[in-house]
Order: sequence, then C-alpha cells, then structure tokens
Amino acid sequence: MKYLSSILLVFLIMTACKKENTTNATPKDTVVEAYYENFRPQYHFSPEAHWMNDPNGLVYNVGTYHLFYQFYPDSTVWGPMHWGHATSKDLKKWTNEPVALKPDSLGYIFSGSAVVDHNNTSGFGTSQNPPLVAMFTYHDPVGAAQKTTNYQYQGIAYSLDNGQTFTKYANNPVVPNSDNLVDFRDPKVFWHEASQKWVLLLVGGDRAMIYNSDNLKEWTYLSDFGQNTGAHGGVWECPDLFPLTIEETGETKWVLLISINPGAPNGGSGTQYFIGEFDGKTFTTSQTEEKWIDLGRDNYAGITYNNLPDEQRIFIGWMSNWDYGQVTPTEKWRSTMTLPRKLELHKNEAYFLTNKPIETLTENLQTENLQIQKKNEIYVFSHPELNQSKIAFDLPKPLNDFNIKLSNTDGEQLLISYDSEKQEYSLDRSKSGDTTFSDSFALPVMKAPANFKKGESADFSIYIDTSSVEFFGDGGANALTAQFFPSKPYTEFSIETKDKPTTITLTPIPSIWKEN
Ligand code: FRU
Repeated sequence: MKYLSSILLVFLIMTACKKENTTNATPKDTVVEAYYENFRPQYHFSPEAHWMNDPNGLVYNVGTYHLFYQFYPDSTVWGPMHWGHATSKDLKKWTNEPVALKPDSLGYIFSGSAVVDHNNTSGFGTSQNPPLVAMFTYHDPVGAAQKTTNYQYQGIAYSLDNGQTFTKYANNPVVPNSDNLVDFRDPKVFWHEASQKWVLLLVGGDRAMIYNSDNLKEWTYLSDFGQNTGAHGGVWECPDLFPLTIEETGETKWVLLISINPGAPNGGSGTQYFIGEFDGKTFTTSQTEEKWIDLGRDNYAGITYNNLPDEQRIFIGWMSNWDYGQVTPTEKWRSTMTLPRKLELHKNEAYFLTNKPIETLTENLQTENLQIQKKNEIYVFSHPELNQSKIAFDLPKPLNDFNIKLSNTDGEQLLISYDSEKQEYSLDRSKSGDTTFSDSFALPVMKAPANFKKGESADFSIYIDTSSVEFFGDGGANALTAQFFPSKPYTEFSIETKDKPTTITLTPIPSIWKEN
C-alpha cells in the first residue's frame, strides 16, 4: 500500500511538473510527439532533441539537400561536437538522419563544408559513383585545456552512399596547424571553375586564409585576407566565398561571408560580408564600410549550399547568438536554423546583398487578403494562425515612419519600426515574453541602418514561427532575425503608418513535422 501511494505521489508530481504546451497553435494530434512542445518552431528545422549550433556541409547531391550541423547528442548545451544530419527534397520538409560524424582520437568535429567530387579527384569513389567529401575542423579538447596552440586542424571524410555513412580519411589531418594559430577552423571548400582547382577558405583568428588543391587531400597555402579590413570585435569564424551576378546588369562579383563573435553591431554574434574580386588565389575588395547580412541578433555562422543545380545561392544560418544561445528556455532541444534564404547581389551607390526566404516555401499555399480595420492611423487585424505565417505588404517610397506591433492576448509584444529621420529600422523584443534567462536577451533594441533597392515601392515580409521572427524590408535589403519566448501564441498585428498599405496578406504555413 505504502509502495503504491509513493508511486501515485511520484506520478502526481510528474504530472504537475510537466509543462503544458501553451505557445503552439498547431493541434497536438497532427504533429509528431517530439515536435510538440513549448516554443517549438513548426516550419523551421530544429533537431528532434538536444543541442545544435552552426549549419555545416550544406550540399545538394542527386536530388537531396543535405543539412549537417554542429550537434551534441547528450545534452541541450554545447559539448563534444558531432555532425548531426537532416535531408530534404525541397528545402521545406526535413527528415532527421543518423549522426554523420563523431569525435575520435584527433578531437571533436567542428564546423566545415562538403562537396561532390564529380571527377573523383580524391580517388575515394569512382567516376560512376563520385564521393561526397566533407572537410571539418578537428578540435582536440586536451590540447585546448592545456592551452597549447596546436589543437585545431582540418580533416576530411567521404561518403559513397550520398551522406548516409562517412569514412574518415586515414591520413588526417590534411591541413595541419603549421603556424600554431589558436583559432584555425571552419573550412569552406568549393570547386573554382576558372582555375580548375578546389579552393579552401578557413579562418585563422583575425583573417581568412586561402588554399587550393587538385585532390582535396594536399593543400597549398595561397594568401590571406582581412587582418586590417572589416569588423574585428571578436574572432572570425565560418567563412564562405562565392560569385554572384547582378541580374539587371550582368556584372559578377565575389562575396565573402565572415561570422564574428563577439563584435556584431547589436551585440554578440553576427555575420559580416565583403564584396570584391577573387582570381582563384587572392580575394581583394575596395569596400571600406562594414556590411552585415542581418542585423537581428539571431542569425549566426550562416553558409551557402555547394553544388546547386542552377546559379542560385541559398544560405542557412543558426538562429541564435553565443551571448545567450545556451540558456534559452526550451526544454528538450535547443536552437533552430533560419529559413533557407536566397542571396542576391544589387547595387545602388554601392554593392549590397539582399536575403529573403526562398519563394517555394509558400508556393501553393492559400494566401488571405486581410480586411484591415483602421483606427486613426493604425491598421489592425488578428488571426488565429498568425504565429505560424508569412505577412506581406508594400509601402510607397520615400518611406514614411511606421510602427508594427505583433502581440498576443497577454500583451506580450514585438515592435518593428522604421524611423525616416534616422533612416533606420529597429526591432524591440524587450516585452516579447520570457526574457529573464539572460541579462543580454531583452536589450539592446536591434537597430539597422536602412538600405534601399531601386524602385517606387518597398515590399516587406515577416515570417513568424512560434518563437522566431524574420523581418525583411525592401525585398530583403534589410533583414532582422530574432527569437522570442512568449507565454501564448501571437495572434494580433497592427501597423501604424501614414501610407495605408495597398494590401496586407497573410499566408498560414503548415507544420513540416506531421505524422505522414
Ligand atoms: C561558430 C563556432 C565555430 C566552431 C563551432 C564549434 O559558432 O564557434 O567557429 O567550429 O562553432 O561548435
């Protein structure tokens, strides 16, 4: 009897402690169990459980988009790094796959990239079955703890079954840390058509280092970039380098992405970029001002896909920030990726990048034209599926001030504003829900100097998914990405502006984590 009552007591305590899911509007019976919990995004990728940070090895191969990522399968905080793995046929719906790479005697498996070795230059496969080759940083935790300066070096592994299993190369490391650099990591490899070579970029603390190779195994150091250029408030991480062509003029430039932590303008982690030239050996730029891909606080370590079938450049970032990434109030998993975004090159007085979620995300979905009510200069609507949707509207240029409020019935709110005098966007999440887990989460208000594309009007879109907001101004010339942790789903939207938006549309986006 005594035994039974203690079981009952334990059961009652467990039931009382189990947090009810109050933040998700998707009905419980339609979503797989692991993806039904507080704050769980419904149309973004997050791992089924445990800790995730940077996207790694983004590569497209025979119909499959691979998303590898920094993963610690034993906890919801950072630890000995593995490469987690998910695949997709359309960049919308993701399937979780077994862990791709595990730590070994050379160290943890830090960030890196993957290529399809079409001509079997590495000899790991055959020309009929070209290998998928991943390059990553080995991080030796023992050397790091002893404060030696040679504990990060690059290794490779190959897969002959399109990423299902990998074999590590027997002669790793392929790029030793010959200069004893404390930070020497995050290799990005790509095929450089003009020089018919593999090119490798990695970061050595305060600069990007460039190498090339004929076979992915033997690498020649060529040059470095950036020691005296760009932002240097923290260590340089996760580089990427690729060409982009301005659609209207046909002009091609090379874009270098560099993540930096800390040192982003709004605090903590952020990703800057440089636009310049690359001749296969050296990257040069005449850019003098700092440029950032996204001035929200939650878009870090982003890189782009290798081997896409067309000229597109698709980018995915880690939707978090090292300032508080390990203490956000999620329970079984921690961290989400940004939506896959298409990068484009544009020019006004200077060259700049735009980034915007790929259009296929909302293709074939029902878009509603919203009947908005006007109260003074405030247009208001509420919608039960707002917290899992895309909202879009246009405004004429020159752009007047606006104030957007996204909120729930508890009065928690996100404010997105444009100040025409300062020509600045801002995003304020100080009253958006739970902010108590970190001193640096609520403030500062995120600010972004406005950048404008050519044209008469500016188009805006906002993607909300339970606990994240991704704001794109003027076709992605301005981006602000932020997490928030509300106590209830956001259902209300208002915009205060002199210029009535011609239309406001809302597209509910279904959960990608359905049973079938
Ligand atoms: C960036 C980063 C990388 C490193 C990885 C470790 O967020 O610090 O430089 O490879 O995370 O998990």
